[in-house]
Amino acid sequence: MFLDEIAKRRTFGIISHPDAGKTTLTEKLLLFGGAIQEAGAVKSNKIKKGATSDFMEIERQRGISVATSVLAFYYKDKKINILDTPGHKDFAEDTFRTLTAVDSVIVVIDVAKGVEEQTEKLVEVCRMRSIPMIVFINKLDREGKDAFDLMDEVEQKLGLHVTPLTFPIGMGYDFQGIYNIWEKNVQLFQDENKQQRGTAIQYDDLTDAALENAIGTKALNTLNDELELVGGVYPPFNQEDYLDGKLQPVFFGSALNNFGVQELLNCFVDIAPAPLKKLAEEREIDPTEKNFAGFVFKIHANMDPNHRDRLAFIKIVSGTFERNKPYLHVRHNKKLKFSSPNAFFAERKEIVEISYPGDIVGLHDTGNFKIGDSLTSGENISFKGIPSFSPEHFRYINNADPMKAKQLNKGIDQLMDEGVAQLFTLQLNNRKVIGTVGALQFDVIQYRLEHEYGAKCSYENLNVYKACWVEAQDETNEEFAEFKRVKQRFLAKDKQQQLVFLADSAFSLQMTQQKYPSVKFHFSSEF
Ligand code: G4P
Repeated sequence: MFLDEIAKRRTFGIISHPDAGKTTLTEKLLLFGGAIQEAGAVKSNKIKKGATSDFMEIERQRGISVATSVLAFYYKDKKINILDTPGHKDFAEDTFRTLTAVDSVIVVIDVAKGVEEQTEKLVEVCRMRSIPMIVFINKLDREGKDAFDLMDEVEQKLGLHVTPLTFPIGMGYDFQGIYNIWEKNVQLFQDENKQQRGTAIQYDDLTDAALENAIGTKALNTLNDELELVGGVYPPFNQEDYLDGKLQPVFFGSALNNFGVQELLNCFVDIAPAPLKKLAEEREIDPTEKNFAGFVFKIHANMDPNHRDRLAFIKIVSGTFERNKPYLHVRHNKKLKFSSPNAFFAERKEIVEISYPGDIVGLHDTGNFKIGDSLTSGENISFKGIPSFSPEHFRYINNADPMKAKQLNKGIDQLMDEGVAQLFTLQLNNRKVIGTVGALQFDVIQYRLEHEYGAKCSYENLNVYKACWVEAQDETNEEFAEFKRVKQRFLAKDKQQQLVFLADSAFSLQMTQQKYPSVKFHFSSEF
């Protein structure tokens, strides 16, 4: 029973450059899963262009992002958990952290735009962690790049090894349907009207006599030639290679028109991994272990400013998580019980009695958790791989209302635990510096400090190019002592009291690295 539940789970994230169709694809997957009844039910969580200073927009986005953090549904007896990843680049760190909780990903690419910047960054993280990936090339109803050129681009720019499992018949105005290499059948649009491509007719295979009539001899010959080329150029699909992150199957379709999505979903439930083992600092944790272990990958502040409680999202790695059972909060070494753990479904959240590996539970929290914390049945386990990244925007943060110093400190503390930004304290004068991955976070912090904590802050510019964590090869090393003395002005501590070097330019970073070869400079907080 326990093992069956684990084998049923498919927990994954969809990543893409903004506008490639992530929201549309998510919605279509939910429609096929019967989790929603109509299109338009999943709101886009993207911040609209030009709205960067519109606080209502930020709040609206926060509200939606809590609602769409996890979208669960059942399909063909599998429990699918889609973890939402923000597309906006200023929230890239949220996406990186969410990727620590997925067992596989689907990468959406726009057929006309090809591989874009944000896709490159996100895929790189997945590739480094050997996360199994499926590529979905979207918007085939529009004119775009040739299928083979696109697959070349995916291989070159993303460093992947692909093999198509579906292939488009035509493109743009001539897009007629999909040949399913995986199931060896053909789906054609039923309706000539390009606006209504909801339903499809299926042909058993390419020799089906009716098919030639339907798409014409020319299109059929082209398809046959293309499939011959596919067979010659790309390796046959091999599930083991896919699971090892060595081979990425490619699907083509149009999420907006429901085309190619069911093919993707049917194959996904067959091949995508059930919950995987996860490496903790102490040992590897197997999902089938009886004892519970999980970690916090996301914290969301409650939308109601009158209640300062938060929702901590926990990925269950092993064992079962049960309501009202005491679990060990490893960092605080204290037992906690949760009376109302939330499970998330497409249009609702509900209190859940028991959750299994692969599932995500949302726990109400009054400030106990921070990102990366682990919760277990009793064992001291710390999960690796939830690093902070070198921020790229820096400002001094000052208290703008001396009567509210306590509120300000508490607010900053909690927002940092949520992972909104990073706080550094300068060694020289104890001034506080906020470092963020995107410029938008400064507005978010100021707004939320005021509305949720009743505190006011102001910012002051600070010329820092990059923050990097520094470490001595050997603590007694004289070179390290000299580095600390000479560079004192540029040194700070992060919230974990780790030493950080704030380089004011790329040049000075490079010079410092050259001058102190025995000092190690790290670009993420985990090393
Ligand atoms: P994102 O979450 O990756 O940012 O993308 P999203 O799904 O919001 O899609 C971005 C735009 O692309 C939307 O249009 C959406 O309708 C369109 N789109 C998605 N899939 C397809 C497809 O298969 N074919 C075509 N032609 N368009 C597609 P929009 O005009 O920006 O928004 P909306 O007003 O339609 O919501």
